[in-house]
Amino acid sequence: MKLRNWRVELQSARRAESPPQRPDETKAPTKLGLIMAPTPPVFEASAVPLRFLHSDVAFLKKTGRGSSFSRAHVLSFVVLLAVLFLQLFNPDVTEYKPAWSPNTELPDVLYPSPISPNTPIFSEPYPISRPAKMTLLDEARKVTEEFAYSAEDVNRGVKAFISQMGKGNYQTYCGDVMLNYAQTRGLYLAVDLGGTNFRVCSIQLHGNTTFSLTQSKVAIPRDLMIAKTSQELFSFLAKQIETFLQTHHNDHYTAHLERRKASSSTTTAEIFQLGFTFSFPVNQVGLNKGTLIRWSKGFDISDAIDQDVCQLLQTEIDALHLPVKVAALVNDTVGTLMARSYTSPGKTGTLLGAIFGTGTNGAYVEKLSKIRKLTSTSSSASAYDTSTGEMIVNTEWGSFDNTMTVLPNTPYDIALDAESVNPGVQMFEKRVSGMFLGEILRRVLLSLVKSSTAQLFSDVDSSTNDGHSTTTIAADSALYKQWGVDTSFLSICQADSSPGLRAIRQSLSKDLGVDAASTEDAEAVKLLVNAIGKRSARLSAVAIAAVVINTGNNVQKGASEDDVVDIGVDGSLVEYYPGFEDYIREALREVKDLGESGEKRIRIGIAKDGSGVGAALIALVAAKMEEGSGSGAGTESGAGVRKEDGADPKNYEPEGQDWFG
Ligand code: BGC
Repeated sequence: MKLRNWRVELQSARRAESPPQRPDETKAPTKLGLIMAPTPPVFEASAVPLRFLHSDVAFLKKTGRGSSFSRAHVLSFVVLLAVLFLQLFNPDVTEYKPAWSPNTELPDVLYPSPISPNTPIFSEPYPISRPAKMTLLDEARKVTEEFAYSAEDVNRGVKAFISQMGKGNYQTYCGDVMLNYAQTRGLYLAVDLGGTNFRVCSIQLHGNTTFSLTQSKVAIPRDLMIAKTSQELFSFLAKQIETFLQTHHNDHYTAHLERRKASSSTTTAEIFQLGFTFSFPVNQVGLNKGTLIRWSKGFDISDAIDQDVCQLLQTEIDALHLPVKVAALVNDTVGTLMARSYTSPGKTGTLLGAIFGTGTNGAYVEKLSKIRKLTSTSSSASAYDTSTGEMIVNTEWGSFDNTMTVLPNTPYDIALDAESVNPGVQMFEKRVSGMFLGEILRRVLLSLVKSSTAQLFSDVDSSTNDGHSTTTIAADSALYKQWGVDTSFLSICQADSSPGLRAIRQSLSKDLGVDAASTEDAEAVKLLVNAIGKRSARLSAVAIAAVVINTGNNVQKGASEDDVVDIGVDGSLVEYYPGFEDYIREALREVKDLGESGEKRIRIGIAKDGSGVGAALIALVAAKMEEGSGSGAGTESGAGVRKEDGADPKNYEPEGQDWFG
């Protein structure tokens, strides 16, 4: 019907020669109108000059507005078209500028002077809300994908770890002789040079698997970690021992000094036997003798390389006339293994001592027959007492896969390594341990701060931060300093589930100098922290699984309750990073040769202060050996102690280096 109407209109318009009457001028409908009634009248169209008519008029009719179409309308329409035409083709038309943009200075009337000149309502620049919020979280999520470490990656990692194990040499200690001191009593000294702190402790063994510990801890000054000479570092350590003795064992200490004044001789009984936990790769060539292979964890003192670290410490102790003998050298993982063995519940021995702290490493009990160097070199093989058939191996797994065949590698990892003091080594450690996680995070955050799209800490929307004030990054923020971000920051972020992530925002302000961060900033930081921490835990699972599988402990040996695989762990990550062990366990279940049942049998226990206790236990072994009793705890067999021509177990000289050299 309507279509027919239009056709009729046009025909009518074409026919029109004189202006038609306005509808209000003629009450009578036209012929056409009559014909097409009851459709709306179309007459006015006929009054429009034909060149404007055909389509436009038809359109007007379609919209039903044709009934009030007049000359005035047509005139306006023509003018409008002319203006549009001019705007379209006139090249001089200037760009449209809004009255106000984020960069425009606001007129005073909108932005009056603050009430007090010192307390502006808004600090510069005027805060605005832009729709960039989603971009930040999207960008953060994109980065987290780079840190994903799949089940497939875990299995590939385990396979590579097992195949690389033992490719280097072994570093070992005097076998399981030290695992049997549960009944031993005595007071021993231990010092522990870790990556962050130097601890001095005295340990009273009570002889019933318990002990009491007195300890002091001091942060190692950064400039000593990269001192010009090793003497600077070791004299500082000796000084700490002196202070400790004066504070906690003053009677013994002053009595010693007086005896010394009276006569120059001191009996062995009056001297503290000290176990030295030295948590760096060492080529151990004696119970209290080991040369430094390389530094790790940010230390870099070149003249110490290839030096006997026990001798370096003893020299400084002697310079202070302290009644102390460095009796044993021990890696912190070995100490952790020892301490866990001393205290762990049940009859099961401990398989592995592992550190997930500033650095990472593991020491485990291995069958002598599987230690390639001992079985392949006849002179070495005959030089060891094989009666217990076991030995402790310090793997130095921080250097697993230095050639990067299977380790994940993001641009942040690459830059971190390139700018470290030891590029190309400790590659596993650089992806796992606390010292490096903070630095990886720092680099990720900085890249997002600099990114033009992500806009981290860029005050995109001040309404979501506490003070509704501008987000600022202090000029001296830890974000701009290499190693500026500590693992404790990651632990705080991981733990915070409060509404608005207040703890993260507070810590951003306190630790990183980022003030008034928004909730979304904090959410982005949390996503990133989680990704970096989770990757670290899953990589840690690779090392644990590889040791368990390679020692045949993935296979259930019996139905008894004691059929567990005991692992002693220590370090800030495993102790304080929320969910670290859960993430390890999740990955362990994904390892084909372990599965759920294998994972369940693995018992992981914190061996708190293990390295100190373990060092004291080893000092005790050393003391017993020095006494020549050879049976301090009734089980001392000299296992793993190298005998010179089968003679005296004291004169051992185990050779070797780390497994992942
Ligand atoms: C060292 C190891 C040590 C580990 C944990 C690594 O950097 O090379 O010897 O056991 O840190 O402290």
